[in-house]
Amino acid sequence: MKRITILGSINVDVILEISRLPKPGETMPMKSLSTAGGGKGANQAIAAVRSGAATTFIGKVGDDAYGEKMLTILKENNIDTSSVIIKKGGQTGQAYILLQESGQNSIIINGGTNREITADDVIKAQNSIKNADFLIAQFEVDIERILEAFIIAHKNKVVTILNPAPAKDITDDLLKLTDLIVPNEIEAQMMTGIEITDENTAAEAAKILRERGVKNVIITLGSQGAYYLTENEDGLIPALKVNAIDTTAAGDTFIGALCSQLGNNLANIKEAIKYATKASSITVQTLGAIPSIPTIKQVNG
Ligand code: RIB
Ligand code: NA
Repeated sequence: MKRITILGSINVDVILEISRLPKPGETMPMKSLSTAGGGKGANQAIAAVRSGAATTFIGKVGDDAYGEKMLTILKENNIDTSSVIIKKGGQTGQAYILLQESGQNSIIINGGTNREITADDVIKAQNSIKNADFLIAQFEVDIERILEAFIIAHKNKVVTILNPAPAKDITDDLLKLTDLIVPNEIEAQMMTGIEITDENTAAEAAKILRERGVKNVIITLGSQGAYYLTENEDGLIPALKVNAIDTTAAGDTFIGALCSQLGNNLANIKEAIKYATKASSITVQTLGAIPSIPTIKQVNG
């Protein structure tokens, strides 16, 4: 069984369904209000475990109702939470998702305890890193923590996967410790300065990232699919055409599902991307992050 460890964020998503964004000074009613488990780290962990990987989480929640709710969700999904710290008086991460009728969403985040993971926490969780086949991280926790975790992974030959989301500047030292980077088109543009509109511009950006030291690159292109570049091959895997209700966690599903299928040498990357593409096409068809992430049965069925 594949062993995946995730260093990442845990949020409760508060979803406000609205017809459109309000104008400055305007008061308007919402259509409905709901909550769902989310956070990029938690979503990726759920996607991995539901696709059959043994999954361990490194993260932090507060001792509030949201923290309890999220720990319960992770445990119910058979994720190893022994490296999830509960901080006394801490505020669990929250995301306020403004979901418009058009299907577009705008997200406002309160990082809370996700931003309070310390260097000492990473050291205490080092066995969870050493024992994994893959370590995945995203940018909702501090970059210094990712760097520390990737150094441990690198020393122990654990394959590192970085999802540089939400978009931030990235230094070459982190890129050099990354075996596979998976940005979307906006994040890839932020890192390379290339405006990505199609396969050719994605290829240009991927080449730059490889020159800066990452070994393998996958750039997700929304409805256009995903472009990949490794030492030996490249190509575009087209997206599946589906009716999107809520795209929240589509990218996270892609990464967790992808990793669950990858061989340690990434030789089967093309097949893994096809699987991940199918998984994320299921996620976009229902509301909410974690509730919409499919199992391996649903993906293959
Ligand atoms: O990537 C989607 C996630 O981003 C949401 O679940 C929300 O929590 C934000 O972190
Ligand atoms: Na969804």
